[in-house]
This record gives sequence, structure tokens and C-alpha cells, in this order.
Amino acid sequence: MSHVKDPSLAAQGRMNLEIAEKHMGALLVVRDRFAKEKPFAGLTIGMALHVTKETGILVRTLTAGGAKVAITGCNPLSTQDDIAAALAEEANVEVWAYKGESTEDYYKFLQAVVGKKPDITIDDGCDLISMMHKNHPELLSTLIGGCEETTTGVQRLKAMEADGALKIPMVAVNDNKTKHMMDNYYGTGQSTFDGILRSTNMLIAGKIVVVLGYGSCGKGVAMRAQGMGAQVIVTEVDPFRALQAAMDGHRVMPMAEAARQGDLFITVTGNLNVVSYAHMESMKDGAVLANSGHFDAEIDLKTLEARATGKRRVRHYLDEYKLSNGRIVYVAGEGRLVNLASAEGHPSEVMSLSFCGQALACEYLVKNKGKLPAGVLTMPPDIDQYIADLQLKAMGLSIDALTDEQAKYISSWEEGT
Ligand SMILES: NC(=O)c1ccc[n+]([C@@H]2O[C@H](COP(=O)([O-])OP(=O)(O)OC[C@H]3O[C@@H](n4cnc5c(N)ncnc54)[C@H](O)[C@@H]3O)[C@@H](O)[C@H]2O)c1
Repeated sequence: MSHVKDPSLAAQGRMNLEIAEKHMGALLVVRDRFAKEKPFAGLTIGMALHVTKETGILVRTLTAGGAKVAITGCNPLSTQDDIAAALAEEANVEVWAYKGESTEDYYKFLQAVVGKKPDITIDDGCDLISMMHKNHPELLSTLIGGCEETTTGVQRLKAMEADGALKIPMVAVNDNKTKHMMDNYYGTGQSTFDGILRSTNMLIAGKIVVVLGYGSCGKGVAMRAQGMGAQVIVTEVDPFRALQAAMDGHRVMPMAEAARQGDLFITVTGNLNVVSYAHMESMKDGAVLANSGHFDAEIDLKTLEARATGKRRVRHYLDEYKLSNGRIVYVAGEGRLVNLASAEGHPSEVMSLSFCGQALACEYLVKNKGKLPAGVLTMPPDIDQYIADLQLKAMGLSIDALTDEQAKYISSWEEGT
């Protein structure tokens, strides 16, 4: 039986789902086909994804295809309670999620999904698959495969694969071009600021914004910061990405130096303690810290909690910490993904692309049941291109096609100057 915060929020949730649907035209094309072909008849899909209105449309796409869905969140602060309530009322859906879950409930809910013995899993961060491998290896023999949504989840899967621990085929949906080049870049770029602004209402123009990590997400965040009139500093450990940042017009320096200069710090590295307590001590009074990477490990909150001389919740998901040197730092979204903790995550248009990837990855796993090797797999490029075509159509855009002469020219080697 579902567990949500307040079933009476369902009416609001249904309206938000309606709005999401209006912007997810590409996914609706997939849903209409699934409704006719029923690729998931008789199958249970277990999901640990942010329970947002966009995820709701993915759930409806899978149930239209004949699946039973068991879903929980993948972050204690990212569930939209109205959406959880609305989904709990839908046929063939069970949902366990509320915003502000305790750690105990978080794992209890993952366990509830595992208890449904899923045939396919969809993870965002690898918690479900990792739990099934660690605690329920007996369920792996009937698991057709799984799909992973985010960079950190794919990294964890690759670590499992390197250890010889990964026993099933896992599709790295994050590695679709239609995912990381869109969702991570434009989605994180926009929604990270949505979260920071809801928490702080600060002016970005004229500020020094430090972006830690210049990958798909960091590039998007830096681009939006620059567009809003900030001076951007990038910190990196990868020399190629650092060069890209410098040539995109940003200042590049080590964090020890950037810490003294920044007004707003945004972590998107997927790494541990990239903002240390020593960095915080050297920051300006009133500096704002936010994380948009998957786990709340990027800002060293443990040491901050232990050493701060005072802490107050001063606004919507904004905590003020007083440091022993008398200065103040603010942390938005409790150091969890700020776009989901303080706001509503990525806009629907971009999630339509990501979730076409998830829906078609599930279908790909079913169609190739028993034929795929255990390990981390990428989707065939033609499926990725099909998703891009669907989205272009949904946006009312068309593009040129190669002429026969051009196709021949670019695939030949004889012609030179
Ligand atoms: N907020 C969201 O909605 C959202 C969406 C997509 C991805 N994510 C998460 O965001 C994180 C980043 O994803 P990505 O796709 O940009 O990954 P990426 O691998 O493309 O980029 C991460 C970058 O961080 C750099 N880095 C690592 N350690 C560092 C350090 N100590 N200092 C400075 N830079 C460092 C790496 O060199 C790399 O360039 C992941 O945890 C991912 O799961 C969040």
C-alpha cells in the first residue's frame, strides 16, 4: 500500500501533471505507441526517481504500456507531495515518498519497491540496484535489467562492474546525447538558479559566482550565471575542462583562492568535500553555498554542523551558520540537490527528452531479454537520434537532410583539394 504525506493534495497534483504533459510532447508519442503495443504487459517496473510531475508522466507512460509501477524517491528532499498523492490514486501504481523523508524511511521505501520483485528497475543514483545486489541477490535472476538516470549513478555502476559485482545489464540513460547534453546542461543550468533564487532571492548580476566542476552540469550553471551578469570563477581538477572554462571566458583558479573571492558557490562535481570547512572559514561574510550534484557530500556539512557556533533556518530551505571566526555562511537546500530541494527540479521540456530515454531503454531491455551481457550498456545511437527527432517535432522544428551527393562526399576518402 502506498505511503504519501497527504492524499488530499491529489487534486493539485493532477493539475500539475496536466501542465507537465503539455510540455512533454515527445514522451506522449512514446506513450501512445506503448498504449497500443503493451510492451510491459505482466511486468513490474521498480523505480527510485525524484517524484516530480515529469516523473509522473513517465509513470503514466509505463503503465500505458501495461506495466505495474512501484516507485519511491531517490532523495529525501525531492518529492513533490501533491504528485505523490495523485500517483497513489492511479491504477497499477504504488508510491512510497514524501518530502523530508527520514533516512530510516528512505531505506524502508526502497525496500518496499524491492519487495515488489521488479522485472525492470529505473534508478537515479543507483540506490535501488545497489540494494538489490547487496541484500537481495536472489531477485537478480528474474531481473531483466535496469536503467540509470544520472552521472553519479553511472559512476557507481561502473565501480560495481570493475569489482565484478554487477550481475545484470544496466542501460546508462545518462550517456544518451539527448540526456546529458540537454538535461544536465540546460536543465541543471536553469533549475539550479530557480532553487537558489527561491531560497535567497539574491541578485546574481554583479556577483562572483564560483562553479565547482565544469562537466555537463557545471557548464550549464556557469553559462546561466554569466547570462545573468555574474563574473564566473570555475574550479576543476581536469585540465581539459579547465581549459574549456578559461576559453568560455571564465576565470579558473584553485578553490583555496576562489573561496576568498566568491559570493555564491555552486558544487556540481559528484565528488566529496569539494567545499571544506577551511574554505568556508576563508569566505566573505554572508557567502551562499549550494549544491546541485547528486549527493549531499560535496559541501562538508558534517564539519560545518560540528564547528558552527550557531544555526538558524532563516528562509525557505536556507540555513544560516555562524562560524567560529564570527562570519556567517548560508547553505541552500540543506546541501542536497538545490534545484529539487528548494525548487521543482528540471522543467518538463528537458525531462521529456530524459524520460523518452528511460521509457525506450525499458522497452529495449524487454525486447532483448536474455541477450544482453551483464554490465553498463549504452543505448543504440539510432534510439538516441529518434528521441532527438521526436523532440524537434514536438518543438515544431525541422532540419535539412543530406543530399545523396553530400552523403557520398562525406563518406568517401578519394576527393581532396
Ligand atoms: N541537479 C540535478 O538535477 C542533476 C542533473 C544531472 C546530474 N546531476 C549530478 O551532478 C553531478 C555532476 O554531473 P555532470 O554530468 O556534470 O558530471 P561530469 O562528470 O560531466 O562533471 C563533473 C566535473 O567535476 C569535476 N570535478 C571532480 N572533482 C572535482 C574537484 N575536487 N574540484 C573541482 N572539480 C571537480 C570533474 O573533473 C568533472 O569535470 C553528478 O553528481 C550528477 O549525478 C545533477
